[in-house]
Amino acid sequence: MNGQSPSPRTPDRIPAEILCAQDYERLAHRFIDAPAHAYIEGGSGTEATLRANLAAFTRHCIRPRLLRDLSSGHTRLTMLGREHPHPIMLAPVAFQTLVHPQGELASASAAAAMDACMVCSTLSAYSLEEVAEQAGSEKWFQLYFQPFRSSTLDLVRRAEATGYTALVVTLDTSIQSPSLRARRAGFAMPPDIVPVNLNAYPKPGQVRLARGHSVIFQGMMSEAPTWDDLAWLMAHTTLPVVIKGVLRTDDALELRRAGAAAIIVSNHGGRSLDGAPASLAALPSIRDAVGDSYPLLLDGGIRSGTDIFKALALGADAVLVGRLQMHALAVAGALGVAHLIRTLREELEICMALSGCATLAAIGPDMLQPA
Ligand SMILES: Cc1cc2nc3c(=O)[nH]c(=O)nc-3n(C[C@H](O)[C@H](O)[C@H](O)COP(=O)(O)O)c2cc1C
Repeated sequence: MNGQSPSPRTPDRIPAEILCAQDYERLAHRFIDAPAHAYIEGGSGTEATLRANLAAFTRHCIRPRLLRDLSSGHTRLTMLGREHPHPIMLAPVAFQTLVHPQGELASASAAAAMDACMVCSTLSAYSLEEVAEQAGSEKWFQLYFQPFRSSTLDLVRRAEATGYTALVVTLDTSIQSPSLRARRAGFAMPPDIVPVNLNAYPKPGQVRLARGHSVIFQGMMSEAPTWDDLAWLMAHTTLPVVIKGVLRTDDALELRRAGAAAIIVSNHGGRSLDGAPASLAALPSIRDAVGDSYPLLLDGGIRSGTDIFKALALGADAVLVGRLQMHALAVAGALGVAHLIRTLREELEICMALSGCATLAAIGPDMLQPA
């Protein structure tokens, strides 16, 4: 646990005030010190994309159907050849010990208990092997390309060896820095929280910029992956490769052609390109382009079961939750994350029941109307 904790932790329990999934967001600030809270909540730049993610869900209302037989209703789906009891996944979120000493281990065991798929970040505070031990059979590994291909390949081999069933390659954050909100709050990553997965890998030497060269283009972007790197990666793994961070139909089509097994429509929770569209707004055209049967997931702004319903209606097969996961982890550790998943699932089931949808397949665009 980091040294900035507001008060010593009491044993994890779910506060009586938690009545819905979003209550975890409301209460989280009591359990996370202010700078770390700003780091988790913040979005890049003016936070326009962060706000857009949330606002997008308010633009749609649900048109309920009456008199449907829901007695055999369920939330099951099949994705990448595997059956999932519900469409709620834990998004890759780095450095989870920032909010709870058990960090990713707690999230992984919560996911296992609730039959949810967890995506372990490259930047986890516990090693991907330790996380895999706690996780259930549904676990994906989120891969950031490393400066050296040998390091990237080693991460892939480790993920394959420890039972991860897919690689999630995040492509939307070649440049990462804490948000203005985090910097203004004085956030600094505690020195004991490090990306342990990368400890053994060589660090690139400092790039020497020639006169007139840009810190961004010839500096940071000189190591960013390209289509060639993706092709190389796909040729070197047997795991399905899921691409995270897609917002355009042309990219989606190219990725499908290149062999991506699935796509996550995402803008990194508003933490990358400020000014990018809301994930939900980008979803329908991508669904139209890739067709009905191609696996599409969405993250960004999911705060309730109703949000999940709307994402499914607009074309997602499943959703991932980022910040809510950290909120629940901070509030009540593994118990909190498990309770969050159960609550989201219940909220989705209530929404399906009240709108007359017995299965996820019944949740189509015709279930929505503009608000
Ligand atoms: C604190 C924090 C750390 C994150 N770390 C990662 C990461 O390591 N890898 C990644 O692909 N996405 C990361 N994300 C983005 C999430 O996977 C996800 O795209 C985003 O949080 C979804 O939006 P939401 O927070 O509104 O649910 C992070 C998000 C947050 C809030």
